Amino acid sequence: MLDFQAILNAIYNKGIAAKNKGIIATYIPELAEVDINNFGIHLRTAQGEEFGVGDDNKLFSIQSISKVLALSKAMALIGEDIWKRVDVEPSGDPFNHLSQLELENGIPRNPLINSGAIVISDILISNLKNPKEDFLSYIRDLAGDESIQYNLDVANSEKATGFKNYAAAYLLKSFKNLQNPVEEVLDFYFHQCAIEMTCSQLTKTFFFLSNQGKCILNKVHLRKSQAKRINAIMLTCGFYDEAGEFAFEVGLPGKSGVGGGIVALLPDQFVITCWSPGLNAKGNSKLGMLALEEFTTQTKLSIF
Ligand code: DON
Repeated sequence: MLDFQAILNAIYNKGIAAKNKGIIATYIPELAEVDINNFGIHLRTAQGEEFGVGDDNKLFSIQSISKVLALSKAMALIGEDIWKRVDVEPSGDPFNHLSQLELENGIPRNPLINSGAIVISDILISNLKNPKEDFLSYIRDLAGDESIQYNLDVANSEKATGFKNYAAAYLLKSFKNLQNPVEEVLDFYFHQCAIEMTCSQLTKTFFFLSNQGKCILNKVHLRKSQAKRINAIMLTCGFYDEAGEFAFEVGLPGKSGVGGGIVALLPDQFVITCWSPGLNAKGNSKLGMLALEEFTTQTKLSIF
């Protein structure tokens, strides 16, 4: 039997002692305030056992991790029609890259890069009555936790500085791949990215993707085939131009955010979330990547 708590403790101790913990994202000014020494890991098994270490109960900005949840809500709402507007190929480029979008006529490579996620925001706005309220209550339902909130300071901070996202949204609009006004779509997108959660809450939220579409309260949110597709997209596109490296070193579907969070899962087995706000050169949590690599190496639990 694997002693998960001992494994997490050892990974935590090694990580926290690292001299180089990466660099905090400062392009969203509000994120620059976070202490680089935060480090938490939380694991939940298919049987509902939970293990945690370090700062796994501190709130952080989930940022791009939210793109997976927005995609799953859009899939639940309009199904296969999504793929008329967004592709499912890895981009091999940073999350906010623009020229590929123009060359490919306003069809984003995948729903987990910014331009793709902005199209998904547009779909949600067109299909939800009260988009921000309804999306938040979807997340709360997945997690079984009513305390989850948007951090309005983070949302406003990005609204004031997210010029590349404005550029992407206007480019999408010029190719007629946005139905709603740019300001409205980006307001939703910035809020979605500004959701705050702890490692423990994120682990619970993502449980449905490891559990064939059923959340921790056993409610069906997606069909098994839809959960499978989202996991495939996380495996190939969850880490931008480091997706290959993550599959190579860790071997799990997962998603990162510039807040320093990473969620990864093994279908029917477990979900694991790491948070350390220092990022590597590709914009993914430095300690988070190392922790997950260590975890799958030590436990031999990965898809390969
Ligand atoms: O749009 C942005 O730039 C941020 N709200 C999210 C970027 C992000 O998390 C990229 N992930 N690694």
